[in-house]
Amino acid sequence: MGAYDALKERILEYGALGARELQEMDAAREVFAEFKALLNDGSVRAAEKGEGGWRVNAWVKQGILLGMKLGRLEEGRVETGVEGSSFAFIDKDTWPLKSFSLESGVRIVPGGSSVRDGSYLAPSVVMMPPAYVNVGAYVDEGTMIDSHALVGSCAQVGKRVHLSAGVQVGGVLEPVGAVPVIIEDDVMVGGNCGIYEGTIVRERAVIGTGVILNGSTPVYDLARGTVHRRTEDSPLVIPEGAVVVAGSRSLKGAFADEHGLSIYTPVIIKYRDTRTDAATALEDALR
Ligand SMILES: CC(C)(COP(=O)(O)OP(=O)(O)OC[C@H]1O[C@@H](n2cnc3c(N)ncnc32)[C@H](O)[C@@H]1OP(=O)(O)O)[C@@H](O)C(=O)NCCC(=O)NCCS
Repeated sequence: MGAYDALKERILEYGALGARELQEMDAAREVFAEFKALLNDGSVRAAEKGEGGWRVNAWVKQGILLGMKLGRLEEGRVETGVEGSSFAFIDKDTWPLKSFSLESGVRIVPGGSSVRDGSYLAPSVVMMPPAYVNVGAYVDEGTMIDSHALVGSCAQVGKRVHLSAGVQVGGVLEPVGAVPVIIEDDVMVGGNCGIYEGTIVRERAVIGTGVILNGSTPVYDLARGTVHRRTEDSPLVIPEGAVVVAGSRSLKGAFADEHGLSIYTPVIIKYRDTRTDAATALEDALR
């Protein structure tokens, strides 16, 4: 029996019930509270790296969906400072915002950021405003989440990753069996990049400014003379240390020729070298 098998069984059992039935069941709320505490402290994760590579924990995603079904809409108000004026937030009561304390060791610079309950930010993570971390996301030590960045639901972000300003890391909650977006240790994601469903970025890769990746994007590897694609059994994998920049390729066919059409395509321009290290070096004092 795995450490969480009993919890997993109960999550699956309750997850099969309808929302109306669940909302009357205190026992389901208790199981959900136990599950959410484990998500919050990083003990359970939507995906984990083992010997055979990344494995999705579909039951964890099912637990998150259970929280959605169980939840009742609740109104929260923030005073604007103007007499008689407040702003309302409305969400499921099972997913409030996450609370932090100094002991959490996370630095969240003030100014419009939110971290949803049921996500994990390791000590030493820094979050610049505004940024958003959604449910089920896991962000490991030393990672910087810069302004206007999104860490979508269930995204798994490694150690010492730099998510630059405007980076969008997509959320993959459904289908429950789908691998969430994974960004491994020491990856640098440049400004305005979008890393969406069906993508794994391996250690030390550098994603140049403005690159968009998803599982349907072929990535042309100029350095190794190959094309990286998603397969039936694997998401798109950006190899370790690859330096990916935004490129284009011409389209074939009479119509494309006539109009000179080309299509956006990410290109691996090279593998990380001392120049790249210098261009992406992080400043300890900012952390
Ligand atoms: C990828 C990046 C790190 C450059 O890496 P690098 O190892 O220093 O790359 P180099 O300068 O050695 O360039 C290698 C080749 O790729 C090209 N190149 C580099 N970056 C490129 C980019 N983003 N787009 C297109 N081509 C690029 C260079 O012109 C060079 O080609 P050439 O040899 O034909 O001239 C940089 O382009 C980048 O995107 N940095 C992220 C910046 C950012 O968003 N910061 C966020 C905080 S502000």
